[in-house]
Amino acid sequence: MPITRAIIPAAGLGTRLLPLSAAVAKELLPLGPKPVLQWIGEELAASGINRFTLVASPNKPDLDRVFRRDKALIERLRASSQLELVARLWSEGRYGDCDIQVTIQQQQMGLGHAILCGRDQIGDHPFVVALGDCVFGPPAESNITKKLLDVFAIENADAVIAFETVPLAKVHRYGIAKPADDGAVFRLDDLIEKPAPADAPSTLAVAARYAFSVEIFEYLGRIEPGIGGELQLTDAIRLMIGDKRKVLGLRLPASVQRFDLGDYGSYVQAFAQFAAWYPPESIRPSSGKLTP
Ligand code: G1P
Repeated sequence: MPITRAIIPAAGLGTRLLPLSAAVAKELLPLGPKPVLQWIGEELAASGINRFTLVASPNKPDLDRVFRRDKALIERLRASSQLELVARLWSEGRYGDCDIQVTIQQQQMGLGHAILCGRDQIGDHPFVVALGDCVFGPPAESNITKKLLDVFAIENADAVIAFETVPLAKVHRYGIAKPADDGAVFRLDDLIEKPAPADAPSTLAVAARYAFSVEIFEYLGRIEPGIGGELQLTDAIRLMIGDKRKVLGLRLPASVQRFDLGDYGSYVQAFAQFAAWYPPESIRPSSGKLTP
């Protein structure tokens, strides 16, 4: 069954981005010419996903406004023949028909809980999880979700997770793999959430994109609060591994860069790179298309 659904957890408070995040949800911050969520939406839609569930917090219920069709604005632009501006809007573009829903996570109880909040929208289908505070580049070429979906289908896997190598000093920020081998696609023997460097089984860190069979919900229903007192997605994946399910890792190719939008420093780096990839002159007024 091809994967056509995704959950985008985007309920984080963004405290490390204050005061920016007091004004703008980090998922709506600009990255070059587009907001973060639009880049993520394009990454997913280009992989064949046409139904997204945004898991938002009560203080940012309108995260989907990037995707909504604003009829009044469109009519106004059309009336003044500004069609090139209309063409820049998500709703008028090639992915404008995607079904995008918002569900509210009332309490911040961890990533595992956020995924459970999207359960009704997923039904009995396999799905992708794309963390809303992380993007990949260059956008036109990285295709990271497509790569995950290909492995998921070819291997008939229960879960496929993207990984990148991080410095040992940073392993405490990530889910860290214990890989069974050193292939580009590898079986996971274990996965540890935010270990101390001395306890890390490797320096391969979960890189914000996952593909799951629907069974993950059963495992999420069984976990107890883990590190930070939160329901951790990593702990549900560990249960899957313990049950000898086929849980695979996929190393990010060297050509793909991952950008975390967690704090001001990483956001500035991401903005600068996206602005370099998409300078103002790349927005062609005649066509409204962004290049490359
Ligand atoms: C989450 C996951 C972690 C993963 C990280 C990637 O952590 O729990 O396993 O490596 O995202 O960005 P968070 O950043 O929400 O603390």
